[in-house]
Amino acid sequence: TESVEQMIDRLCAKIPDHPEPGVLFRDLTPLFADGDGFKRTVDALTDAFRGQYDCVAGVEARGFMIAAAVAYASGVGIVPVRKKGKLPRETISQQYNLEYGTETLEIHTDDVPRGSRVLVLDDVLATGGTLGASASLLTRAGFNVAGFGVIMELTALRGRAQLGGHRVRALLRV
Ligand code: PRP
Ligand code: MG
Repeated sequence: TESVEQMIDRLCAKIPDHPEPGVLFRDLTPLFADGDGFKRTVDALTDAFRGQYDCVAGVEARGFMIAAAVAYASGVGIVPVRKKGKLPRETISQQYNLEYGTETLEIHTDDVPRGSRVLVLDDVLATGGTLGASASLLTRAGFNVAGFGVIMELTALRGRAQLGGHRVRALLRV
C-alpha cells in the first residue's frame, strides 16, 4: 500500500518553469482537493504530535486549512497567525524577509492562556521565514512552541535552520 509520503508526492502537481524559468513549482491543491489524501495528511500530522500540544497555530493563508483540520481532529482550539492589519484587538507583530521585500505577521495576545503548548502548522517549509517569524511571535506572546508540522519541506532552502531546534515533522521532504 501507498505510504503517506508517496501519496503526497503523487497528489502534488509539479509545474516546470513557474513562476520563473528553472524553478519546479510544487502545488498542493490536488492533495487538498482529494478527500482521502487530505484525511490521511491531517491524521499523520495529528498523530505525530499527539498529546504534546494544547492548541494549534495556523499561518495565513494556506496554513489555515491544515491547522483547522488538525485542531478539529484533536479537539483543541486554533490561533490564527495573520498577515498585517487583519486582527482588530491588541496584537504583536513580527516582520520577516521574503525573497523580494518583507511581510509582517500578527497574532492576538490574549485568546489563549499564557504557557499553552502550541503546535505550529503550515503547508510548506521553504526558507523558514514564515514559520520562524510565527514561532518568534508565539514565544513573545507567552506560548511554548511544541513543534512544527508541515506537509512538505523543500530541503534545499534549509528552512529548518531558522526554527531554533524545535521538533519539525515534514510528511514529505523534497
Ligand atoms: C507560502 C507557504 C508557506 C510559505 C513558505 O506562503 O504557504 O506559508 O510560503 O515559505 P518560507 O518557508 O520561505 O517562508 P505564502 O507567503 O506564499 O502565502 P499564502 O499561504 O497566503 O499563499
Ligand atoms: Mg503560506
